[in-house]
Amino acid sequence: MGTLDGRVALVTGGATLVGQGVVGALAAQGCRVVVVDIDEVGGTEVAQHPSVEFRLTDITDDGELAALAADLQRDYGRLDILVNLACSYVDDGAASDRADWLNTLNVNVVSAVMVARAVRELLAESGHGSIVNFTSISSSVAQTGRWLYPASKAALVQITRSMAADFAADGIRVNSVSPGWTWSKIMDTLSGGDLVHVDSVAAPFHLLGRVGRPEEIGAVVAFLASDAASVVTGADWAADGGYSALGPERNEPAIPLLAKGGVSR
Ligand SMILES: NC(=O)c1ccc[n+]([C@@H]2O[C@H](COP(=O)([O-])OP(=O)(O)OC[C@H]3O[C@@H](n4cnc5c(N)ncnc54)[C@H](O)[C@@H]3O)[C@@H](O)[C@H]2O)c1
Repeated sequence: MGTLDGRVALVTGGATLVGQGVVGALAAQGCRVVVVDIDEVGGTEVAQHPSVEFRLTDITDDGELAALAADLQRDYGRLDILVNLACSYVDDGAASDRADWLNTLNVNVVSAVMVARAVRELLAESGHGSIVNFTSISSSVAQTGRWLYPASKAALVQITRSMAADFAADGIRVNSVSPGWTWSKIMDTLSGGDLVHVDSVAAPFHLLGRVGRPEEIGAVVAFLASDAASVVTGADWAADGGYSALGPERNEPAIPLLAKGGVSR
């Protein structure tokens, strides 16, 4: 018996590694999962799982979202869970132009809200709807050279609270999950697939001394989506290996570094 037996989830941006971790965790709990993404190759790959279906959909297109909601009603007759995971990392910091700003905010913020708007009625009909928005540690710290992505994630933390307030009457809980550094496509590409190297770079920033694994993030999402979290709404859940607990500290003793003439630990 899974905690999500018989339920249906919609996961935006589920075509890459973190998405696969989320989709796998939901499916492992008995959930059928519909992945929407603009990455057809990745989406087709994730849909190899028997409980997963892929629909090529651009979440910035309102017409496609309306069609998606109608298709979900026709093909499944229900929707219990929405995971807003799709994102844009386009960010040139202070040099970003208006088009970059509008594009990043459109994908990361406005489209997450528009997807929720499109499927709100279906979620309400379930009687136990749950929305999980993907935010980030970037929502609450300054990151050199990055302006757009952190701003978009900070906005989504606040929108999660607004949604939770106004969707509660529909029986829909709304939470966000804030991962720390997580093994993902961008890390795979940059490191040439070297997880050990990536973990070593992440170690000083994370109490656990490593990056999160996609399935670990998926487990938190599956919990928030389930009735086990029935009292949780409007919350931003850290799934960050202790990154946010460190604040400005590093994951190693700093005081000994003050000693002149050598470091004693
Ligand atoms: N990777 C990390 O370390 C990390 C850390 C904190 C938070 N996050 C969050 O986790 C989530 C997943 O991150 P990731 O690194 O796997 O990202 P990713 O870029 O690998 O995946 C995002 C997916 O969104 C899809 N997408 C983009 N625009 C779309 C659109 N218009 N319509 C439909 N799909 C679209 C992309 O095709 C891609 O498959 C994001 O919300 C991200 O902000 C990631």
